[in-house]
Amino acid sequence: MWHTENPIRHALPETNWPTAEEAAGSLLFQLIQIGNLALRSRTWIPAMVPWRATADGFVTDANLDWYRRFARGRPGAIVVEATGIRDVASGPLLRISHDRYIPGLRQLVETVRRASDGQTRLFVQLIDFLAVKRRPEKSKFFQRFFTVTELHRHALIEATGETEWLEKSETAVRDFLAGAPDELIDAALDERERESLRYGYRERITDTHLAHIRELPEALPKMFAAAALRAREAGFDGVELHYAHAYTMASFLSRRNNRTDGYGGGLDNRVRLPLEVYRAVRERVGDDYVVGVRFLADEVIENGSRIEDAVYFGKEFARAGFDFLSLSKGGKFEDAKQPKINHAVYPYTGKSGYECMPTILSDERGPFGRNIPLAVTIKRAVNGAGFQTPVIASGGIANFEQAEEILQRGEADIVASARQSLADPDWFLKILTGRGQEIRRCTFTNYCEGLDQSHKQVTCKLWDRLQLDEAGVALSDDKRRRLIAPED
Ligand SMILES: Cc1cc2nc3c(=O)[nH]c(=O)nc-3n(C[C@H](O)[C@H](O)[C@H](O)COP(=O)(O)O)c2cc1C
Ligand code: SF4
Repeated sequence: MWHTENPIRHALPETNWPTAEEAAGSLLFQLIQIGNLALRSRTWIPAMVPWRATADGFVTDANLDWYRRFARGRPGAIVVEATGIRDVASGPLLRISHDRYIPGLRQLVETVRRASDGQTRLFVQLIDFLAVKRRPEKSKFFQRFFTVTELHRHALIEATGETEWLEKSETAVRDFLAGAPDELIDAALDERERESLRYGYRERITDTHLAHIRELPEALPKMFAAAALRAREAGFDGVELHYAHAYTMASFLSRRNNRTDGYGGGLDNRVRLPLEVYRAVRERVGDDYVVGVRFLADEVIENGSRIEDAVYFGKEFARAGFDFLSLSKGGKFEDAKQPKINHAVYPYTGKSGYECMPTILSDERGPFGRNIPLAVTIKRAVNGAGFQTPVIASGGIANFEQAEEILQRGEADIVASARQSLADPDWFLKILTGRGQEIRRCTFTNYCEGLDQSHKQVTCKLWDRLQLDEAGVALSDDKRRRLIAPED
């Protein structure tokens, strides 16, 4: 986990929980309109991947249990985890890339409806991502993934002073490099090859020499639209297009996107495909269906997009007709730590990852409500341009007073809480019924995120060892943790 230099360990803020009467009169528990849908409160659980789908992307009983547990706390909305729109193997992450997934997803929708008594609206986050390979063993990289070219041979002549590299067999070049010191490898390989060796091969939207990457602008609108229609058929109240973090659509929005085919470079070109995807989705699902977007208020990485870019995107998304704008921050590959051999690079291990899920080991500002200044800037700009599209803020929002102040000050329209909702899925209901003192408060130390990083079933350290011998308790694959928060 990345930390700032000389971090300060922040305490959880002291807070007063409201009485049931105070909660009932608060803005947090007032209705809000999203498109033509009413949310019963301004509370929101943003997407969180729990690693519980089958290996080929189907909904499991463990997925149903996970969402049922959140639904019982009756948030205004839950966004189902990033769900793949591309029909390719992607491990135990949900998929919506074919009609065969609809029955399982329909069951998920019905489970949430029943558990929340119809009070919670359910959206699904639609994601596309490009290939990311594991970091290979050095020898394997040079034997299997490395193409020897004239450039390498010349670089070796220069680096070693020996001229026979032009004639040597490919095998000899590979074998030599596999045993060569880092300095020599650095001299012989280009930047992308060095990255593939040390981090694992990772596709980029700018790899337009590859046909499937060049053709993303043709392919993605159709894939997103088909997935959105399946979401509607499964009964979801709406979809959230995932334009945030390290994934395909965020890469199109990024300042680092220098495609030269009209889909990169200036702001208007970078937003072009995200808007084309939106229009294709809208056309397929109709005007009466909720279509929202999650995007980055700041990419955090060097040469990445900043708040000025996000302000522009927010206004364009509102103008196009998106029904909500959900904000996140960071979570990029570009500043991620080097993974261990045979592990894939994880986009939440660098500074941008820290900003996405800030912990209590922080700078002076601390992790709580850290992204609110960005949310305010975007909301003011969107409202100033004449749009009332609800803005959803997230990042360290974890008590009633804080959430209510954000809403009262008009800094956001809805507050989203991921980790606090994982720590205590009943916390909204506890606030509403005047039982705030009973809330299990998230400690913001990111044990859950560590599990996500190692592709393990996500649980919370505050409850995953409690009452393990309770009858019928579902356990993690290693049999050491409970999968669902206990009742309390
Ligand atoms: C285990 C875990 C999985 C997550 N998965 C997703 C995801 O699928 N899509 C997404 O947009 N954000 C994801 N996030 C980020 C959260 O939605 C949220 O933006 C972030 O945790 C900051 O909010 P918080 O401080 O309330 O936790 C995930 C976070 C965690 C902890
Ligand atoms: S594991 Fe830690 S950071 Fe994650 S929800 Fe639980 S208390 Fe919060």
